[in-house]
Amino acid sequence: MIEIKDLHKHYDTAQGRIEVLKGIDLSVPEGSITAVVGPSGAGKSTLSHCISLLEKPSSGQILIDGKDLGALSGRALRAERRAIGTIFQNSALLSRLSVAENVALPLRNLGVVHHEMQQRVAQLLDRVGLLEKADAYPGQLSGGQRQRVGIARALALRPRLLLSDEATSGLDPESTHQVLGLLDSLRSDLGLSIILITHEMDVVRHVADEVAQLASGRIAEHGALHELVASPGSATGEKLLPLRSEELPAGFDYAVTVAYRKDRVDPGWISRLGIEHGIAVALLGGAVEAHHEGTLGRVRLGVQGATPQDLLRLLDGWGLQADPGSLARNNHELVEANA
Ligand SMILES: Nc1ncnc2c1ncn2[C@@H]1O[C@H](COP(=O)(O)OP(=O)(O)OP(=O)(O)O)[C@@H](O)[C@H]1O
Ligand SMILES: [Mg+2]
Repeated sequence: MIEIKDLHKHYDTAQGRIEVLKGIDLSVPEGSITAVVGPSGAGKSTLSHCISLLEKPSSGQILIDGKDLGALSGRALRAERRAIGTIFQNSALLSRLSVAENVALPLRNLGVVHHEMQQRVAQLLDRVGLLEKADAYPGQLSGGQRQRVGIARALALRPRLLLSDEATSGLDPESTHQVLGLLDSLRSDLGLSIILITHEMDVVRHVADEVAQLASGRIAEHGALHELVASPGSATGEKLLPLRSEELPAGFDYAVTVAYRKDRVDPGWISRLGIEHGIAVALLGGAVEAHHEGTLGRVRLGVQGATPQDLLRLLDGWGLQADPGSLARNNHELVEANA
């Protein structure tokens, strides 16, 4: 478990002080992936550098299993640092060393004996599915394979937290898929806490358990991915599963956005509105996406024949979440839920 508490980071420059992180609170439980998303300049890499102890926070705490890393120095800090494995956008492998030698580097630096090291390296390469590339050189690998070697190297010292800063940026879809599949299994099999910093919403949707939206050095929104997507009012949910919808057709009273998890609702819910309750429904837009915890859906409906209040109550009873803030007569004119 990693906990970040009230983390601040500023830089003093010739132009004055720049406050980059303004009080970040974030905790990532064991065996779960938290994605940190946000626009360019929001402070994502600065946060990553503070967590991996490349940079010293101005104030605040980083606790790993309750231990405050900021309070340590020297040998104790170096030892605790091993709890954090890092992977970067360019896996930064040494081109003159073989794949196996690259993975062995952190072990060599620790003075692990030769035959143990060989065993461990083989295990790690097997873990990332690249045992047969042990003697290849980084230049002979694909981008996705290089990234997986980087992951094997990051795992060498048995970290409890894996920090990934844009590790899939610039990879083709197939390589991205492989790297994400690997992170997914590391989360489940090794119980790692993973922080995934990325600007790619596809990546987030496929593997994240939780999502934190960073904006101007603060966490603007944070929650379980399926809850953010299922909250029609969530800005992060809207970015994760964008909904393009048409104008309300004539004859319908209002439009509303409804979010749901497919495995938890009756698949016939839209037709039941008409058959059982005499409510006419027009489908104005929709998005459905597979997620590792189940399929998520968001739809925008035009409605006729029920008050917003009655409709919201009915949907709620069926396990569907409708956002009162999304009720509108058209794209501009909002409707009160209890009107
Ligand atoms: N060493 C530094 N000195 C001064 N300002 C810095 C320094 N490092 C980062 N910054 C500033 O901090 C802000 C956040 O930078 P950061 O690299 O953390 O953003 P980011 O969210 O990772 O962006 P991107 O998505 O483009 O990678 C930027 O305005 C940047 O100019
Ligand atoms: Mg960055």
